[in-house]
Amino acid sequence: MDAVSPTPPTEGVPTEAPPSETIGLAPPRLDLDALPPRMLRELRASHVGETVAVNLYDGVAGATTDPELLRFAASHRLVELRHLRLFEAVLPHARRSRLMGFWRLSGRLMGGLPARLGPDYVYAVVAGVESWVDGHYAGQIDTVRRLAPDPGLLRMLEACRHDEIQHSLDAARLDPAPPWGARALARLAVGLSRLGVALARRV
Ligand SMILES: [Fe+2]
Ligand SMILES: [Fe+2]
Repeated sequence: MDAVSPTPPTEGVPTEAPPSETIGLAPPRLDLDALPPRMLRELRASHVGETVAVNLYDGVAGATTDPELLRFAASHRLVELRHLRLFEAVLPHARRSRLMGFWRLSGRLMGGLPARLGPDYVYAVVAGVESWVDGHYAGQIDTVRRLAPDPGLLRMLEACRHDEIQHSLDAARLDPAPPWGARALARLAVGLSRLGVALARRV
């Protein structure tokens, strides 16, 4: 990223996140004691994922001066915060991961490192990770349908999934042909996300 020469305006390229599907959505009231343990693990993993997402954009904001990237990070962060608030409403502290400090730090690094390398790197990481998160939520929605088909929870997961798809498309639009290094970093970020979810299901 070049902090000296101003970034040319990208006319017609949307940098604001689209309105969130979660607007107006109330968190479902779940009887957590009645949920299968598998479902609790899944909710914990997604609560971690949304925590990492909010912190990722904080990491980006702290590591760039690129105005377009800052706008991108701020608008996506707002949507991720909505997701996080929903999962916080569903999952009390006692049911959350015991490694919250670690997850927040991981998110900061996951945003801060690519932001230091340049906007291309952030867009590639966000496009890759959000596309993977789409699949993660799709799997979770299947699991909920099979194990605990609560309509409110399904609506919430589907709304989050819809937003993540938009995030992936936003990022891919901003950088349709990322350099090799950015693609490699995105693959690494997806691999780490996969590991992170596996860990968050356990602790
Ligand atoms: Fe999210
Ligand atoms: Fe997202």
